Amino acid sequence: MGAYTETYRRSLDDPERFWLEAARAIDWTQRPTRALDSSAAPFYRWYPDGELNTSYNALDRHADGGRGAQDALIWDSPVTGRKRRYTYAELRDEVATFAGALASLGVTRGDRVILYLPMIPQAVIAMLACARIGAVHSVVFGGFAPKELAARIEDAKPKLILAASCGIEPTRVVEYKPIIDAALETTEHQPDHVVVFQREQARAELSGTDLDWTELVADADPVDPVPVKATDPLYILYTSGTTGRPKGVVRDAGGHAVALAWSMGALYDVHAGDVWWTASDVGWVVGHSYIVYAPLLVGATTVLYEGKPVGTPDAGAFWRVISEHGVQALFTAPTALRAVKKVDPDADELKKYDLSRFRTLFMAGERLDPETYHWAHDILGTPVVDHWWQTETGWPIAANPRGLEPMPVKPGSATKPVPGWDVRILDQAGEELPAGREGAITLKLPLPPGSLPTLWGDDERYREAYLSRYPGYYLTGDSGYLDEDGYLFVMGRTDDVINVAGHRLSTGSMEAVLASHPAVAECAVIGVADQLKGQVPRGFVVLKSGVDVPEEQLRDELVALVRRDIGPVAAFRDVSVVSALPKTRSGKILRKTMRGIADGRDEAVPSTIEDPSVLDALRAILRP
Ligand code: COA
Ligand code: AMP
Repeated sequence: MGAYTETYRRSLDDPERFWLEAARAIDWTQRPTRALDSSAAPFYRWYPDGELNTSYNALDRHADGGRGAQDALIWDSPVTGRKRRYTYAELRDEVATFAGALASLGVTRGDRVILYLPMIPQAVIAMLACARIGAVHSVVFGGFAPKELAARIEDAKPKLILAASCGIEPTRVVEYKPIIDAALETTEHQPDHVVVFQREQARAELSGTDLDWTELVADADPVDPVPVKATDPLYILYTSGTTGRPKGVVRDAGGHAVALAWSMGALYDVHAGDVWWTASDVGWVVGHSYIVYAPLLVGATTVLYEGKPVGTPDAGAFWRVISEHGVQALFTAPTALRAVKKVDPDADELKKYDLSRFRTLFMAGERLDPETYHWAHDILGTPVVDHWWQTETGWPIAANPRGLEPMPVKPGSATKPVPGWDVRILDQAGEELPAGREGAITLKLPLPPGSLPTLWGDDERYREAYLSRYPGYYLTGDSGYLDEDGYLFVMGRTDDVINVAGHRLSTGSMEAVLASHPAVAECAVIGVADQLKGQVPRGFVVLKSGVDVPEEQLRDELVALVRRDIGPVAAFRDVSVVSALPKTRSGKILRKTMRGIADGRDEAVPSTIEDPSVLDALRAILRP
């Protein structure tokens, strides 16, 4: 039996023993004597009697254990022309002092703190400082509009908001303070303070209870890590669901630390002293897990990159960073590579750099299309490894376990279920499907450590959204199949979630915005294939009777509305006026049929459709 098969079987046959053993990689202030607590099933808890501090595990134990002078963090920011390195000792000290600053404002264990920060070291410092004092951080991605920020403020009820004065996009400086002010104008909940890190590209005007980050830190004293229960929340990360209201995915402290440390070695083959780069954003789960927590938990060096893959200043940006910092493994989304391929198809830029230390390219966030896979593999000559997971799970569900037992790559597959995850493919009736048959990808409960225990303040929504469709199983929302070798192929979402340039978005929330326009009677938004971004949203609206607006004007208004209410990250640019939407006789919009037309998979028109002729107009638009 190979190492993978043996480990996978052990993890499912005796999870108690497996995860207690894995917990030894973490320093506990109170070592857990039990792994799984099923007493409130289907709500599970891991390490119910354990206590630890995540910031201690990510920093102090390395700083004091012989890695004090090793780089913990390398910040590389082509958009500002700046770079900075932090050793483990320096990063620990910065975090301890900033934690002291938070404590001086009365933030204590269990308080929520919202972070609205770009890819600067202060984002990492703020996350770890919250963890140090047991506060619960909630990072909001900078590309979201005030309304989205407001929804998160209202739900998390933060004591503080930590922000920078601006983020930097290639074509513009994005001022954050006006976005925060606009959000706070609409929320009932008001934080005690907004603490602003001033960047020279655009300084924010502070007023009222606003505080200056640098002044606050100047007066602060460092504080020690506070032990918290393993089951205490470490963070909340909001993600798009099928409705407009984002879901607050909760991450606990203990299970998260154990699972991430385990994944770093077993799945990525990255260890203490290695240099690792995740080119994502701290606003997404990939950034939380693999820019910040996992690499630091194992004593590796993590690269924090503020910029785009291309045009900052050239198409060789990725290769320059890998070469300059001696990066051994890179994790990014396929869309980023497609962006590089588009401007440098022959990878001429790559030839300028020494990539001799580079070992593996990891890809996730969206399906790795075979064309991008082959291109990357050909130009790099290293393994290019797809893997699949989601915000809720916190770490990979399916992967090619490079540290455990590297497996041959099958393009199009995310390779095999990871130890801890009991992946089952179910049909509509809940029957398990044989190899090769596509169905709903589900995970038999309990989920392993590191996965979400619930949604913030909403156990019922957690149950309803994930556990009710197939009792005893977690519904991933993706469909796919296992082949005869046990390789998993993820084919796409079955719900109203789309992935635009690796960014997870809800078409439901875009529909809510379109419906708010006075001319719109009804609407639908679906994801359609895009060469660069993988998917982009595409809107269809039916006008109220008697409305007479030029289509171009209406389109501009609707595009601007989505940008205003959701944010530029929605990349919403296309909307068409149609005379009717396809519906069932009971009036339900047939979005799945619309998606089928867009994907060229529209052979089966549902028998429940009210008026099949409506589909012709959609075909003419989507497949002209
Ligand atoms: N703050 C403010 N605005 C942001 C933003 C941020 N943090 N991130 C993106 N935006 C804006 C962009 O400026 C753009 O605005 P525009 O409409 O005015 O041009 C819009 O949101 C859409 O952004 P995006 O879809 O990212 O397109 P892009 O052309 O800027 O970049 C890629 C395309 C592929 C290079 C980029 O999306 C990328 O690197 N993606 C990787 C995704 C990733 O890391 N995913 C995480 C999972 S691994
Ligand atoms: P997020 O929660 O933002 O990480 O997005 C999770 C979703 O992205 C998944 O449910 C999938 O739909 C999609 N996804 C992530 N990684 C992959 C992958 N490797 N292959 C296919 N889809 C993926």
